[in-house]
Amino acid sequence: MSKQLHSERFTPFLQQEQLQRPRYRALFNYLQQRILEGALPPDSRLPSTRELAELLHLSRNTVKQVYEMLHSEGYIDTRQGDGSYVAPQLSLNHTQQTQSQPKRQPIQLSAMSAQLKKIRPLFHQDKQQLLLPAIPALDQFPWPVWQRSVGHAGRQMRFSRDRNFMGEPPLRDEIARYLNATRGIRCTMEQVMICSGSQQGMQLAFSMLLNPGDQVWVEDPGFPGIDGAISNAGGIKVSIPIDRHGFRADLALASEQQARLAFITPSRNFPLGYTLSIERRLQLLQWARTQGCCIIEDDYDSEFRFDGPPLTALQGLDGEDSVIYSGTFSRILHPAIRLAYLVLPPALVAPFNQMRGFLDGGLSSLPQLALADFMSRGHFAGHLRRMRKLYKARRAYLRQQVEQQFAGQLTLEPSDGGMHSVFLLPQTSDDKAIVEQARAVGLGIRPLSYYYDQQAPRSGLVIGFAGYSETQMEEGLRRLKPIVEQHLKHREANGRLH
Ligand SMILES: Cc1ncc(COP(=O)(O)O)c(C=O)c1O
Repeated sequence: MSKQLHSERFTPFLQQEQLQRPRYRALFNYLQQRILEGALPPDSRLPSTRELAELLHLSRNTVKQVYEMLHSEGYIDTRQGDGSYVAPQLSLNHTQQTQSQPKRQPIQLSAMSAQLKKIRPLFHQDKQQLLLPAIPALDQFPWPVWQRSVGHAGRQMRFSRDRNFMGEPPLRDEIARYLNATRGIRCTMEQVMICSGSQQGMQLAFSMLLNPGDQVWVEDPGFPGIDGAISNAGGIKVSIPIDRHGFRADLALASEQQARLAFITPSRNFPLGYTLSIERRLQLLQWARTQGCCIIEDDYDSEFRFDGPPLTALQGLDGEDSVIYSGTFSRILHPAIRLAYLVLPPALVAPFNQMRGFLDGGLSSLPQLALADFMSRGHFAGHLRRMRKLYKARRAYLRQQVEQQFAGQLTLEPSDGGMHSVFLLPQTSDDKAIVEQARAVGLGIRPLSYYYDQQAPRSGLVIGFAGYSETQMEEGLRRLKPIVEQHLKHREANGRLH
């Protein structure tokens, strides 16, 4: 037996805090909620749209629109000439809900995501901080020409109809030309795959090349950003020490733990900046070739080599069939340009392309076409030339300031380029504690020990210079000075006590 609903049932709507929502949306949500809760029982008759509009001080059209929405979503029925009723079929749900509403069970995460909890968390990057490593000179980015390239890309988009999982052909072409000319890479544009940051490229590569339980050699210390990607693919990270000649290929090859894959930064080890020697490069290539394994060459910032001509990449050393070369624009151009690329061995192009179709179907055309235009007009090369000069000067300034202000406390670990410098602390000092305190005064420096996995960590500070003017560097070091001094004093005092 249906009953007319009394107006008191609706007046609480008037007390509802009016959020930033249109009124029709607020009323719709209110009625929908009341129906689901059973406060407006099944089969009961709603007031006419005129009545409800008057009661709630709304226009009649608003209420009509809400009734239509409720009707089209199945919450109410309209009976010809007899008004609107709460739908009867909700009655069953309603009784079930009120009598024994099942409790929401917690959503179960997969074993893989549980595994991620065990991985070193990544540092949060707060762009307001000073001396962050891996931040380019944001104020030097040529916005007007970039905006022109974005405008051009907007017009071009209408012609890019084909879905291309590997990326937009003009960008792949520009990248292939650039790599052939400057990095000694041997590739055609068909081998170039565009990714949203090198992180995505790694994720894809590991998932395509590893079986659960397969081992991956990584550098120790090394880039922690890949730990999650290896774990995701079910791989097992095997940390191999590095020395001044880079990844200890000799130790890796002599070990019993045979890997399927090696992930390395041969041009400049991250974070120490050491370059992999030619002997070890050849050893690794030989290993990959004879064992059917693969090397991932992460060339994250080798564009910034200041003390000599650019190094030839490992891929260019007859490694075309064994090396996946990875590069990124987020470091060289701007962190908001989430574009990077992989250069794949020819045999991997088809399977990676297929997987990419399943994974994300490729990236949005606009930023890719904009970057292709930016490169084809020479702005990329020009910007790189300018930044190389600027960063070289900034690196020298940081070094000079540190030598002046932290003599005997911080010792530069030499490297031929990059966007940050590593300064060693006396070995037993607690670099993590220093960084923690530095964070509280707005500094983004990192503790060197964080990048170590199995090896005994060295204590030091990783200090970014690329993104900061001389004044900013001075300000950063001014804030750092009392923190380092205080820590070293404590350490000395403790040393005397023991
Ligand atoms: C060594 C290294 N590889 C890869 C990346 C990640 O690059 P992307 O920002 O393209 O994901 C970084 C970022 O800082 C890095 O330091």
